[in-house]
Amino acid sequence: MEKAGKIKAWLVSFELMRIVFIKTGGGVLVEQLEISRAFMLLEPGPVVLVTTNDGKKDNIMTISWTMVMDFTPVFAMTTGEWNYSFRALRTTKECVVAVPTVDMLDKVVGIGTCSGSDTDKFTKFKLTPVKGKMVKAPLIQECLANIECRVIDIIKRHNIVILEALAAYFDTSRKEKRTVHAVGDGTFIVDGRKLDRRMLMASKLPAGV
Ligand SMILES: Cc1cc2nc3c(=O)[nH]c(=O)nc-3n(C[C@H](O)[C@H](O)[C@H](O)COP(=O)(O)O)c2cc1C
Repeated sequence: MEKAGKIKAWLVSFELMRIVFIKTGGGVLVEQLEISRAFMLLEPGPVVLVTTNDGKKDNIMTISWTMVMDFTPVFAMTTGEWNYSFRALRTTKECVVAVPTVDMLDKVVGIGTCSGSDTDKFTKFKLTPVKGKMVKAPLIQECLANIECRVIDIIKRHNIVILEALAAYFDTSRKEKRTVHAVGDGTFIVDGRKLDRRMLMASKLPAGV
C-alpha cells in the first residue's frame, strides 16, 4: 500500500474505533478510546453457532461472546432470556457449539438476526442437522467443528452459561478452515497466519496439545 493510502487506512480505523488523541502533561500523545467501545478490543472468537432442541424442534443462534475457562473442556458463553434458544438451554441443559468458517458468514449473521420463535433456521439457511451421540441438540454438518455440550451452570446475574464439552468433532476434509471473529460493530476479522511459539510456551502448555 502507498504511504498516502496507509495513512488514510489508519485514519479510517481510528475513526471507526472512536479514538480521541489527548496530550498528557509530559507532552506525550496517548489515545483515549470511548469506554463503551472497550469491549471491541477484547472481543474473542471465533463466532460460533449454538444449536438446541426444546423437545419439539431444532434451533440455532449465533454467539460471539465465548470464553475458555481452563484446560479442561469447560467453556462459558454470554446469553439470556432475550434469545428464544435460552429456554431450551435452561430446560434441556444441552446444546451443540458449532464452529462455522468465513464462507458461512452471511448465514452466521442471518441466524443471529432472526428468531427460532418464528423461523425454522435449519431450513431457511440450508443447513443440515446431524444427530449427535450425547445430546438431543443437533450438530451442523456444514461447520468445521462441533462440540456436544451439557449446561453445568447458569450465572444469572451476568447472563453467563457454563458448558462442559462431552464430545467434539472436526471436519478434516474441509478446505476452508478460516474462522471469523466479531469485532462487535458489525465487522469481522478473518483468521490469518498461524504463528508458532510452542517451544517458548512449552512450560505453560498442558500435556497432549
Ligand atoms: C455476529 C453475532 C454475534 C452474536 N453474539 C451473541 C452473543 O454472544 N450472545 C447473545 O446472547 N446473542 C448474540 N447474538 C444475537 C443472537 O444470535 C440473536 O439474538 C438470535 O436471534 C437468537 O436466536 P433465537 O432467538 O432463535 O435464540 C449475536 C448475533 C450475531 C449476528
